[in-house]
Amino acid sequence: SEHQYEHAHAARVLVASNRGPVSYVFREDGTLDARRGGGGLVSGLSAIGPETDALWVCSALGDGDREAVRRKIGEPGVRMLDIDAAVHSDAYNGIANSVLWFVHHMLYQTPLEPVFDAEFRRQWVAYEAYNQAFAQALAESAAPAAVVLVQDYHLALVPGMLRDLRPDLRIGHFSHTPWAPPEYFRMLPDDIAEQLLLGMLGANRLGFLTQRWLEAFQSCCHRVLADHDVDPHRPKDGPPSLEYRLPGHRRRRTELGVHGLGADADFLRERSRRTDVDERMAALREQIGGGAHGPGSRKTIVRVDRTELSKNIVRGLLAYRTLLDEHPEWRERVVHIAFAYPSRQDLAVYREYTAEVSRVAEEINARYGTPGWTPVLLHVKDDFARSLAAYRMADVALVNPVRDGMNLVAKEIPVVSEAGCALVLSREAGACAELGDDALVVNPYDVTGTAGALHRALSMPDTERAERGKRLAAAATALPPQRWFLDQLNALEALDEGVAEPG
Ligand code: G6P
Repeated sequence: SEHQYEHAHAARVLVASNRGPVSYVFREDGTLDARRGGGGLVSGLSAIGPETDALWVCSALGDGDREAVRRKIGEPGVRMLDIDAAVHSDAYNGIANSVLWFVHHMLYQTPLEPVFDAEFRRQWVAYEAYNQAFAQALAESAAPAAVVLVQDYHLALVPGMLRDLRPDLRIGHFSHTPWAPPEYFRMLPDDIAEQLLLGMLGANRLGFLTQRWLEAFQSCCHRVLADHDVDPHRPKDGPPSLEYRLPGHRRRRTELGVHGLGADADFLRERSRRTDVDERMAALREQIGGGAHGPGSRKTIVRVDRTELSKNIVRGLLAYRTLLDEHPEWRERVVHIAFAYPSRQDLAVYREYTAEVSRVAEEINARYGTPGWTPVLLHVKDDFARSLAAYRMADVALVNPVRDGMNLVAKEIPVVSEAGCALVLSREAGACAELGDDALVVNPYDVTGTAGALHRALSMPDTERAERGKRLAAAATALPPQRWFLDQLNALEALDEGVAEPG
């Protein structure tokens, strides 16, 4: 045969990601409950309809018992890899989330971290094995010349590994994160930095959420791959690409593209009008209360995040505290609805951050709260219907990450908000490139500045807020997930086989 693989269930389109489409949690009676997985990656990929007939290869389907989950699954179109738990943990918790995530979001406290020692090298071997398992599975499952869409920093080495196994495939890789500037990226040991970049360049095409992240990637290639004669290739029309030399003097070319991911307006509008969301709204209204001015008189500042270091939840709370300090006229008249859903709790630094979020919220409530007014409503139990209820009630949305690939919450709230909300948005979120004109843009480290923006947002005249809100919603939905997915699929399908090897 043409390849060493049998194409028993050969797929023409394959998607690969660490996390699968649904998350399984156990109900109290021991049965499994399937929920939509969290994060932008799953939102984007939820656009893949049955008509695409794609095979989704993943390793983590949920946080429940892996055995039970595996027995229950057997969903068509999903192949869950059986990866050794220790390998998965070293690759996912160790390298992906404690190193690559930290590098791209620039999260290290540099006097103490990072330390790239023997433990890191041991975890790196697991990361390679984890990527190799994906490459192997994809190679087995792909039809000749199939399109493979590899997702995110967990799988940076897959394109190169898969190219070695199956040179006929058209391979794309998409980064859902920011990309680090070279000064930061080069904290990684040189050989590792080089391996990561060359691994990704094994793809025919690399996708990023914004031009800014794409350019950072290009800069990293120029600095790290100096021995590979990297040439930027900028044809007058058509996408930019990178040309470089591989060992043995062969030259390869990889195309680069920007694909912003927008909110799914149809889904959000339909889902947020269901009765379970109405019920959550009524419950929230009760918690908000109305004080002397009656129900509905208090304004809301809404944030919804995974409890994630890069989301900057603590500084957001400190900005709210500053607002109450410097503008006492808002006391009793505003409530900060903060939903912070636990994430990556295997990592101590995330557990500590989760505790710090609660501590600061409680401190604000203790200091400013009155019998009829709780200044911060912090909820940590993930509940999508309640998130949508808060979106509907939002007068102000607070999205202040220190760094974020896109941030879909910034796009979702303006779409769902009933009164048209004012958006306080970090300039370091990818979404700011698309929403910056109508948002109140802040430096996420500047707590005083963020408090000032909250005050301006709360004080914004209704008509201005409604107009800005309308424009924000339009910009937020300009690139629905279906487009995001199909544009990449089409770009890869348009490539001739072998286009990546110009000679
Ligand atoms: C970000 C990443 C995704 C990831 C998501 C949730 O959006 O880009 O790859 O799936 O966070 O994080 P988790 O570690 O729970 O998968």
